[in-house]
Amino acid sequence: DKGGWSSFMAKEVSEEPEAVANTLRGRIRDGAVAIPELDGLDELFGDITRIIVIACGTAAYAGMVGKYALEQWARVPVDVELAHEFRYRDPVIGPDTLVVSISQSGETMDTLMAVKYAREAGAKTLSICNTQGATIPRESDAIVYTHAGPEVAVASTKAFVAQITALLLLALHIGRIRGVLSRTEAAQHVLELESVPEKIQLILDREQGRIEQFAHWMADTRSVLFLGRHVGYPIALEGALKLKEISYIHAEGFAAGELKHGPIALIEPGQPVFVIVPSPRESATLHSKVVSNIQEIRARGARVIVVAEEGDVAVLPFADEVLRIPLAGPLFEPLLAVVPLHIFAMGLATAKGLDVDQPRNLAKSVTVE
Ligand code: M6R
Repeated sequence: DKGGWSSFMAKEVSEEPEAVANTLRGRIRDGAVAIPELDGLDELFGDITRIIVIACGTAAYAGMVGKYALEQWARVPVDVELAHEFRYRDPVIGPDTLVVSISQSGETMDTLMAVKYAREAGAKTLSICNTQGATIPRESDAIVYTHAGPEVAVASTKAFVAQITALLLLALHIGRIRGVLSRTEAAQHVLELESVPEKIQLILDREQGRIEQFAHWMADTRSVLFLGRHVGYPIALEGALKLKEISYIHAEGFAAGELKHGPIALIEPGQPVFVIVPSPRESATLHSKVVSNIQEIRARGARVIVVAEEGDVAVLPFADEVLRIPLAGPLFEPLLAVVPLHIFAMGLATAKGLDVDQPRNLAKSVTVE
């Protein structure tokens, strides 16, 4: 039931705040992360020397965001790998490896086969999944369910923010078990995590109409590029994937630092480029690097659309459009920055008269390898 929305995707994007809130619910006690499903499973995290995150598509981008949190808060080295690549390259894994799989459906064959492979090789397995009782969680040693609710649209939206939320919770959990994070530090992150749903809601309330209008004007665009650095990089990839999937427009996401190693050759006058701008408060260096990237592409005629935090005026002279997100710490920013990109992809596909819920050639759950 679309509940009065024009599409399931529209409904599901509107549910992004709840998807985060529901994934947090019951997992925070007295300001500390307490994940009941992981009670008594400390041995899964104590002796590991590395984590490999495996997933496909959007879930893999959530994993890329998770890598930053797991490395920063838990100080465990993390590799993120596409499930279908992982299995076929004789990976070096064993009992000291924790393999974290991420899957909305829990039925993606590529991911399932990679989990089984990891288990057989003696690795520990944890599944982040949105579907109770699905096959992947049943094949895993531990499960952290995302509580985004059923996702019907082929393009994943609310499940993505729920997956990042679960990864942040997991990173805090492991960081505490391994004694890397103090109680106070973890409590600060928990507070910030709890404030995310209302911040997403603010973006929906303030920016949705404007972004849809703007997507409408861009309906004839043939190619859109997305740039990001640090955690903004996976968000750029996600913005591009969503646009490809439902609007059939050529879209690519790049790490902003790669520009001069190739992609800048693509910039010609009028080329739309979305740039995810990190907060200047949190990292002046990262911010100024991204601002220089914006200057570089602007000088070559790009039409620059920035996603930047409120109050960041440094981007104004170089941006054709500014989409604002509320202030947040660096590891929480992806949960906000992705929202305008989901709205944009949906707005553009709608403006082209396409079926946003059932894009051509795609299935919600990819149950063949
Ligand atoms: O159900 P899963 O999370 O395992 O699905 C993985 C991908 O197939 C999925 O995220 C796909 O990329 C989406 N259509 C993206 O919007």
